[in-house]
Amino acid sequence: MTEAASKAEHNQFDAAPTLNTAEFEQFRHFIFSEAGIDMPPSKRALIQSRLSVRLRELELNSFSDYWRRLQQPNGAAERQRAINLLSTNETYFFREPDHFTWLQHHAIELAKHGKRHLKIWSAACSTGEEAYTIAIVLAEALGIDGNWQLFASDINTRVTAFAKRGIYPVERAKKTPPHLWQKYFLRGRDEYSGQVRMVPQLIKRINFFNLNLLQSDTFQQAGFDIIFLRNVLIYFNEDTKLKVLANLCPKIINGGHLLISHAETIRNKELPLVMEGPSRYRVNPPFNPRR
Ligand SMILES: C[S@@+](CC[C@H](N)C(=O)[O-])C[C@H]1O[C@@H](n2cnc3c(N)ncnc32)[C@H](O)[C@@H]1O
Repeated sequence: MTEAASKAEHNQFDAAPTLNTAEFEQFRHFIFSEAGIDMPPSKRALIQSRLSVRLRELELNSFSDYWRRLQQPNGAAERQRAINLLSTNETYFFREPDHFTWLQHHAIELAKHGKRHLKIWSAACSTGEEAYTIAIVLAEALGIDGNWQLFASDINTRVTAFAKRGIYPVERAKKTPPHLWQKYFLRGRDEYSGQVRMVPQLIKRINFFNLNLLQSDTFQQAGFDIIFLRNVLIYFNEDTKLKVLANLCPKIINGGHLLISHAETIRNKELPLVMEGPSRYRVNPPFNPRR
């Protein structure tokens, strides 16, 4: 190809728009005020690559054009789409397995001591692997039709829709102990090969819905024995963490538990939380004179 021909060919492709500093600040402020997600300047390339997919779909030439779309009074659906694109949803079955070993033991102990009903919430459930893992553990401990209730929510509407189907690539389930596979996963065939589907009895035990943790007061349920709040505090600054936790603690029964990720910390001393084990807290635990 001659140099002229190569230049002509090059000119027929538009370079992807870049996110300038002012635009980055707009989207950074957007995701912080909508979801509490605190994106440092080091995340600029990430924001650019996640949103550029949407720019291409809408055939927009700049991030400022997209920003104007988000600002329109009828832009609510697009704002939700941007939140979906900007939230990080990594998760898999039996992630941080200590929590599930503890849950199995705890559920059995509570039942032995006469507790009839267990109510659990996976409060940033992403695509649902955490909630299905909890459901498997409860099914093992208390029976698949046992007296337990499981809620699972996320701000991202795309991931909860995915979770409700209960179909996953096999790799996401590879940390599941082998003896549980037969009982709870159905292997896909033909166009579903390489995927697994949760058994329908388990799918119907989980109530998936959308909830922004900045507005958890709009969720009417309370009296939870355990809330899983794992790998989401990491995206919040200290102020946001405090607000989110201050709203969640009253939803947990006294003596109930809050589980966070091993990578996260709760520094605030005013919350009614006492650390019981690594990344496991109790809300207003009963007085223990030996402590
Ligand atoms: C990394 S995933 C964690 C999934 C799962 N809990 C785990 O530990 O594997 C973090 C999830 O938090 C959700 N998230 C972020 N900000 C949120 C908010 N303000 N309200 C509710 N969910 C939020 C994201 O959409 C994402 O699905």
